[in-house]
Amino acid sequence: MKDFKGSVAVITGGASGLGLALAKAAQARGCKLVIADIREDALAAAAKALGANGEVLAVKTDVSQADEVEALAAAAVAKFGKVNLLFNNAGIFASSLSWETSADEYDWVIGVNQRSVASGIRSFVPRMIAQGDPCHVVTISSGAGLTVNPGFATYSMTKHAVLALTEALWLDLRAQKVPNIGVTIAMPGMTQSGIMSPEKTTPSALKGEVGERLGNPVLKALETLMQAGVAGGLSAEALADQVFAAIAADDLYVLPAFDDEGSRTFATAVATGRASGTNAYPPFVDAFLETLSTL
Ligand SMILES: NC(=O)c1ccc[n+]([C@@H]2O[C@H](COP(=O)([O-])OP(=O)(O)OC[C@H]3O[C@@H](n4cnc5c(N)ncnc54)[C@H](O)[C@@H]3O)[C@@H](O)[C@H]2O)c1
Repeated sequence: MKDFKGSVAVITGGASGLGLALAKAAQARGCKLVIADIREDALAAAAKALGANGEVLAVKTDVSQADEVEALAAAAVAKFGKVNLLFNNAGIFASSLSWETSADEYDWVIGVNQRSVASGIRSFVPRMIAQGDPCHVVTISSGAGLTVNPGFATYSMTKHAVLALTEALWLDLRAQKVPNIGVTIAMPGMTQSGIMSPEKTTPSALKGEVGERLGNPVLKALETLMQAGVAGGLSAEALADQVFAAIAADDLYVLPAFDDEGSRTFATAVATGRASGTNAYPPFVDAFLETLSTL
């Protein structure tokens, strides 16, 4: 997609941080907007900031619930007749130790960071295929989708998962010869946003658990470092511009955090291997690529 004018963009987690910056960037390029977020007040404020005119639709959505994501897709099409851009952006970070994290907390983070992307793909991609006009799906993973740090159990696990899922989407669209849908995955590092205030969306039953672990000195130190890093990180607006540049160039990867030579070499080596399909299960890779080329 190079010309965004008149396109319809759906942004999950659109009430703050990167989501709101993506909404503003889409609007500046002439898109109609559908912003979705679990926080109704923040969503209303964001819609107001975006002009709250007939070209902005705000839909309260819990992205961890597949039926709510399906309702979001239906609302977007009912309002604007189509969807061209889907930003799977909503996400949460809560540090934890893998063995102390409750089953309910695992479910929460997996639901918001990971199942949301599967639901977005399931609800939006078939509609985009039927439309046949230029479309693009963007997933916001993280640098933590390629790396792991202490305390990052749930976050890194889910961000790795959506990297693989979005790459699988890209490979499948090509293998199935779907011509009109591009795919981009962003793996940002520290970016200015509200991500270090997870209490704003933590389910009430988990608030004690999430708060208590800051008694652990390692996790407390990690959170302090992260808070400073996010406060001094890349601006959400700069990241949104990088994402739109990648959509226009049809780039699969946006790697803003991997900007020194060593880490860029690492990230692009992973990315190149994965996107070429040559990282398929080694015993099958030649046969797989040969079969694909004959279809
Ligand atoms: N800020 C960073 O440093 C950074 C780095 C790498 C990746 N990311 C990713 O960027 C994305 C955007 O996060 P951000 O940094 O702008 O943080 P943010 O907290 O400012 O924005 C996230 C938004 O998602 C919403 N949200 C949370 N749970 C939801 C749910 N169940 N359903 C719908 N909406 C929900 C929140 O209300 C919030 O408005 C996330 O996927 C995050 O993991 C952020």
